[in-house]
Amino acid sequence: MTAVPETTADDAALIAAARAVRANAHAPYSRFAVGAAVRDEHGRVHAGCNVENAAYPQGWCAEASAIAAMVAAGGRRITAVAVCAEAPVGQPPVPPCGGCRQKLREFAGDDCPVLVADTQALRARFTLGQLLPFAFGPQYLEP
Ligand code: THU
Repeated sequence: MTAVPETTADDAALIAAARAVRANAHAPYSRFAVGAAVRDEHGRVHAGCNVENAAYPQGWCAEASAIAAMVAAGGRRITAVAVCAEAPVGQPPVPPCGGCRQKLREFAGDDCPVLVADTQALRARFTLGQLLPFAFGPQYLEP
């Protein structure tokens, strides 16, 4: 798939963070390294990679790591997301999995940009609302 222009320096920085942290992925079983980065309401970037486990279901995704880093740092709102992984030849770029879309939805609105990159370039740009329409979110549990 062809590259999509990185429109802002903020986007480029978010993608760079996702790409850099991907190098630390612990993915000895799938050999599928993923990096993710989220920008919080203070403009801070939090990054994380996938962490697999010999007991396979105990592993978790890069997005979950990035979200955990944000929450641990006190962030509570995601304003943009970047994911970096290498799609096999002929496959479209790698988007967040379904479970991660829901995890992101906890801290991000429908309009939150989700930038999908590979190791070379930004490949696709979505909103979270496009990836997870008609989502169940915290609004349903508000008193
Ligand atoms: N993975 C992610 O980190 N994020 C996603 O959104 C898709 C999948 C990881 C989980 C597992 O370590 C590897 O990719 C293969 O599924």
